[in-house]
Amino acid sequence: MTTYLITGIAGFIGSALARAVLAQGDKVRGVDNFSTGRPENLDGIRDLIDFRETDILDLDAMNHACCGVDYVLHQAAIASVPKSVLEPLGNNRTNVDGTLNVLVAARDARVKRVVYAASSSAYGDGPIQPKHEDMSPDPISPYAVSKLAGEYYMVSFYRCYRLETVCLRYFNIFGPRQDPTSPYSGVLAKFISQMLSGERPTIFGDGETSRDFTHVDDAVRANLLACKAPAEQVVGRVFNVATGCPTTLKDTFRVLKKLTGYCGDPRYESERAGDVKHSRADISNAEKHLGYKPGVDFEQGLKKTVQWYRTQMERAGQELAAGD
Ligand code: UD1
Repeated sequence: MTTYLITGIAGFIGSALARAVLAQGDKVRGVDNFSTGRPENLDGIRDLIDFRETDILDLDAMNHACCGVDYVLHQAAIASVPKSVLEPLGNNRTNVDGTLNVLVAARDARVKRVVYAASSSAYGDGPIQPKHEDMSPDPISPYAVSKLAGEYYMVSFYRCYRLETVCLRYFNIFGPRQDPTSPYSGVLAKFISQMLSGERPTIFGDGETSRDFTHVDDAVRANLLACKAPAEQVVGRVFNVATGCPTTLKDTFRVLKKLTGYCGDPRYESERAGDVKHSRADISNAEKHLGYKPGVDFEQGLKKTVQWYRTQMERAGQELAAGD
């Protein structure tokens, strides 16, 4: 049986990966320090996986975690542009030092391949769209720098040690279980939960900011493909994982109004430091070499996600009422 180690398994992407790996009949080991991941994301699968509450900064723990593992899906990170602007040191420790620990442990345990959650933020704010992997990176925020440094480490571990690595540049992944409660939460999780609760969302900028929002099921598929794709086509390389179809924040708000039943208007505030204006991917390399195709249409994905948050809120309401 094949064993996958998922770092950041209690995050919304990590926990979706765990469910997909279990569904294909393979074994899952996972690590998380619950800094941003949530125990409830593992509800229903906790007994089916080998879970270890630990930090990727603990090299001993990572050495143990990599023992006997075939594939590492490295998702653990502090995933926020504004948080990295406020706390660049903490961002660097987890995203750069942590990634290096994962690589050293994976190399020493002779795992078959490491797939890394890289970020579209590496491209920065240049005018050329769509973003292609051959373009020079131009990171703006400390977060973008740290995720790009992780990529370079991935590539260097392939070049120096022949550890097979693949980098997937995620473009704004969204879907069920994404945490909406932090000021650093992804915009869709925030907007959906605010609008379902009748709270007024804030759009930073003029609303024309655009993102290539990508459903978590597509990110999961890309990871599983990256593990099995022929080495000569993918290792030591970087691939965009996206849809190729961007949406503005204004349009997103409009669609969410329909889906959530929210009646108000958004509040507008100035752009956040470190923000990129437009982000749209060229996904032809992923299509050609990974066999990846986005399968979830943006509005359909949003509809399913809104439904998931609605169900969670109804359940929380019922539990509260039962407790009274
Ligand atoms: C960036 C990366 C993305 C990465 C993510 C990790 C880019 C282009 N994308 O996402 O690949 O996965 O970091 O966190 O750099 N916004 C609002 N109102 C809010 C919250 C956010 O208008 O309440 C705006 C932001 O200012 C931004 C956009 O929505 O313009 C998206 O923000 P967010 O969801 O935080 O992700 P990015 O920073 O784009």
